[in-house]
Amino acid sequence: MYGLLEGKKALVTGGAQGIGRAVAKIYAENGADVMIADMNKEMAEDAARKIAQKTGQEIGFCGVDVSNAASVAEMAECAVKKMGRLDVLCHAAGILIHAEILQMTEKQWDTIFAVNAKGTFLVDQAAARQMIKTGGGKIVNISSCSAKKPTYEEAGYCATKGAVGAFLRVAALEWGPYGICVNGVCPGATDTPMVRSTFITSPEIEKEWVEKTALKRLGTPLDQARAVLFLSSPLADHITGESLIVSGGELM
Ligand code: NAI
Repeated sequence: MYGLLEGKKALVTGGAQGIGRAVAKIYAENGADVMIADMNKEMAEDAARKIAQKTGQEIGFCGVDVSNAASVAEMAECAVKKMGRLDVLCHAAGILIHAEILQMTEKQWDTIFAVNAKGTFLVDQAAARQMIKTGGGKIVNISSCSAKKPTYEEAGYCATKGAVGAFLRVAALEWGPYGICVNGVCPGATDTPMVRSTFITSPEIEKEWVEKTALKRLGTPLDQARAVLFLSSPLADHITGESLIVSGGELM
């Protein structure tokens, strides 16, 4: 498309579907070889095959549970074994658990923190360790507008995404001297399997969410992927520690 990642080696977590899959595709369209890592290995394989066919880039896949340190270490090893090094990471794997605070269980709280917050620490750390060896790179974490505004029944989710924003600023500070930029993208409501299976479950609810945006439409995975591409590219060489809202004006 723009050749922004020509020759780069990229890892995308949560790349089997939704925003992560769109990121894997746009990275490949821009000249990167990509490793897609996801809990759902079968879907990761399918995504890898289809993106490779369309773009002609080398697209690998592996299974990972981002909340598990050993699994994340294996993923990083697998990515570097296949691609030789790591220049770019988009960490998109994440989950949403709906529960009012008074009803929320300890298990729900621990699960969402393990995947969204601890997962970001583990995945970014593993990627940074590789990037330091080759003089730097770009890390983009998928956060959420929920990091910046409250949403009913999403206390756990909001807290984890707030944690992602705070974590990435410290990572940007600590890894800047190694040439690593660490940023985030904060999507508003974006039409993905996660959203369709959780909160946008009827045409009426969809209409409500559309009305909340200035641009009067839901985001698409491609809208998010374009922002991720920008932050992953040399166009963003002097941007670090930022969380970019991509919400069609739902949040400004
Ligand atoms: P999705 O559910 O469509 O895709 C998420 C992917 O992550 C799936 O392929 C899933 O298998 C994988 N995954 C889940 N848990 C995992 C784990 N423990 N280890 C490895 N992979 C795991 O979700 P979507 O909508 O594409 O979300 C991607 C990111 O964007 C998430 O971090 C989400 O919180 C964030 N986001 C999404 C918004 C939306 O409206 N869709 C809004 C704001 C943020």
